[in-house]
Amino acid sequence: MGVECFVTGGTGFIGQHLVAYLSAKGHTVRVLMRRPERLAALRDQVDNLGGSGARVFAVAGDLERDNLGLSHADREVLRHVRVIFHLGAHFAWGLSMESSRSVNVEGAKRVALLAAEQKSRLVMIGGYMLKNHEHLQRIGIDPRSPQLTNWPAVYRHVGGYEGSKLEAHFATLEVMSSLGGEITVVHPATVCGHSRTGHIVDGQPLVELIRNLVQGKLTAVPGTAEHWLPLVTVDYLVELVAVCAFDPAMAGQELLALDDQSPNLRALLAEAAKPLGIKSPRHHIPLRLLKWLLGIPPVARFLNSKPEALDFIQTTRFDTAALEQFANRHGITKPDIRQALQHTATFVNSYCLAQDKAR
Ligand SMILES: NC(=O)c1ccc[n+]([C@@H]2O[C@H](COP(=O)([O-])OP(=O)(O)OC[C@H]3O[C@@H](n4cnc5c(N)ncnc54)[C@H](OP(=O)(O)O)[C@@H]3O)[C@@H](O)[C@H]2O)c1
Repeated sequence: MGVECFVTGGTGFIGQHLVAYLSAKGHTVRVLMRRPERLAALRDQVDNLGGSGARVFAVAGDLERDNLGLSHADREVLRHVRVIFHLGAHFAWGLSMESSRSVNVEGAKRVALLAAEQKSRLVMIGGYMLKNHEHLQRIGIDPRSPQLTNWPAVYRHVGGYEGSKLEAHFATLEVMSSLGGEITVVHPATVCGHSRTGHIVDGQPLVELIRNLVQGKLTAVPGTAEHWLPLVTVDYLVELVAVCAFDPAMAGQELLALDDQSPNLRALLAEAAKPLGIKSPRHHIPLRLLKWLLGIPPVARFLNSKPEALDFIQTTRFDTAALEQFANRHGITKPDIRQALQHTATFVNSYCLAQDKAR
């Protein structure tokens, strides 16, 4: 039976796939929109992605405003919501601490408050760096006592986006536990396009990587043969997120959504290059050197990248046993990541890069 859902970030890449999935299952989906006049375009997109646009409704608001900027009428409508999916975030490199905090941390706390007040399950999208304990320790976060964290130092270390995502996670858990709310957190790896269509949205980190590859700016592989960029396809991710939300056993749990079959970075680039008939780099460049080079603004502009993006390329391996168990229990099949990468590269070349040429 369909239930009422509220989604923040429903116009974004992962969000539009989640809204399509939920609406296709018969749920009514209310989407927080800064520009509600774009509802018709969102409904069309949801239909294109296999969902039911007619079941999607706009809720005017903004994560940066008190009470999310909701009107009294919308606040009443939202009381019937059973699950709140929080995906909305300012996702970009080079953000200041102030601006990333005001959307990603304060916004997440506002969403948590709403969920706890009206006893809706909150499903929050974090990020896989929260499951890299060595990394957290290195940057000064002890997950057992996050209140002791020197956040300005963390932001200086990892940049506004990642710093705010880390802070938002602990701040949201704190709000939910102090108010007795029910929360499930899903931590995605870097998101790859749809496993069959390759659909992805410009601005995603993987699109930038493929763009650099096609434009011949990636002449060496960052890191070593052990370095990888853990991936998860958007369709596998949204199925996990949606199923989590209705599984009572997932209340209070966190799930790492990461495909441990993601190839190392060199093989990832080779896989993306294959369908495009282009060469991929074979030699490596040390990450430290590349980070240093990216600190030089003209180089960063030329390479179309920021030092922060390199933090996601790492050697750490993750334990995905809980994910495999969860997926098996619910009959969720993991797509072939190499094929998904090839489809994504083809999609990026046909749509995102074709648009670059048209400009
Ligand atoms: N993509 C990845 O590789 C990845 C990996 C790990 C975690 N995540 C997390 O997954 C979530 C979704 O990521 P995504 O890739 O789908 O991001 P995205 O495509 O950049 O979408 C961001 C969404 O947030 C909304 N938003 C931004 N600022 C807002 C504000 N002030 N008020 C209301 N809504 C606002 C945007 O709405 P507008 O349409 O109004 O701009 C958009 O719907 C984020 O929390 C991100 O940190 C992503």
